[in-house]
Amino acid sequence: MEKVRVKTRYSYDVLIGNDLTEETVSRISGNCKKTVLLWDEAVFSGYVAEIGNALEADGKEVMAISLEGGENAKTIESYSKIMKIMSDFNITRSDAVFGIGGGTVMDLAGFIASTYKRGVALVQLPTTLLAACDASVGGKNALNIGDEKNVVGTFYQPDLVVIDTRFLSALSDEVFSEGCAEIIKMGFLGDKDMIAELEKKSLLKNRGDEDYLVRIIKRCIEIKAAIVETDERDHGPRNILNLGHTLGHAIEAESNYKIHHGQAVAMGMVQMTRIAENKGIADIGTLGRLITLLAEHGLEWRCPYNINVLAGHVERDKKVRGGSLPIIVPEKFGSCVLMKLKIDDIKKWLTE
Ligand code: GLY
Repeated sequence: MEKVRVKTRYSYDVLIGNDLTEETVSRISGNCKKTVLLWDEAVFSGYVAEIGNALEADGKEVMAISLEGGENAKTIESYSKIMKIMSDFNITRSDAVFGIGGGTVMDLAGFIASTYKRGVALVQLPTTLLAACDASVGGKNALNIGDEKNVVGTFYQPDLVVIDTRFLSALSDEVFSEGCAEIIKMGFLGDKDMIAELEKKSLLKNRGDEDYLVRIIKRCIEIKAAIVETDERDHGPRNILNLGHTLGHAIEAESNYKIHHGQAVAMGMVQMTRIAENKGIADIGTLGRLITLLAEHGLEWRCPYNINVLAGHVERDKKVRGGSLPIIVPEKFGSCVLMKLKIDDIKKWLTE
């Protein structure tokens, strides 16, 4: 088992390995008498039963609540229904909430744990590669209001994150590739050696190599933790994690969310690298390498939408302040810069 310590205001461990149920249960406080497992119904129920049984064997009461995954999990209605169940179950402040699923379940579990009686313990068990490398760590969580994503949220770091690779081996190649997009993003931001390694040995094509998978996930968590530790409350530097995301969100929205997050981020990174190379900011050749790397990880790089249409979405981005938007511009693998640009300049950059 590998471990990364995330040194935020309240530090916590991220465990990565195979079959970590016993280790997980051993780390739950003795004061915790009841646990609530919020699990995505798409997750193999046998895993959830295994965790529930182990908690019960340790003397804890278990309430398992299955959820429809995806954005539907993150509604106010689903939130208030679960709060009521927890209250009826007499969950106290020393008890714990477990999130078992992908990024949307991590978001819901985080928001519930942070607001139920002003905060209970939170254990995140990500079951997708994308959630393992990104959503489970960092402490930002949120609910949607209608069609608007992430309107209500808190900063609330988990007490423990457990990445059990048994979940990851059950993923389809398509869902695994979505996570590879965030992994490539992390390498682009902070580790040229990891990019070189992925170029030599595609993680998608070698997903059965457990040691390789664990090492790459660990490196991603280390990169993300280092960025989050400098800016836990998202005042600026943490924006760098949004490489490919501004255009990625525009692509997701334009597709009515038929193009999923990881795939959209991959297309967004390609567009930003194309612009950065044209402007002489990125090293020549970076775009070609990125396209090959994405293709080797099962990701489409061609954006199906006209860039003028995407520019319209960018103008309405939630991060626009005073007519400017922070944009992450690649320089080379392992190095990207954060630039605050006027919306008109961004539109010019995109379309020229
Ligand atoms: N929970 C994801 C993040 O904080 O970045």
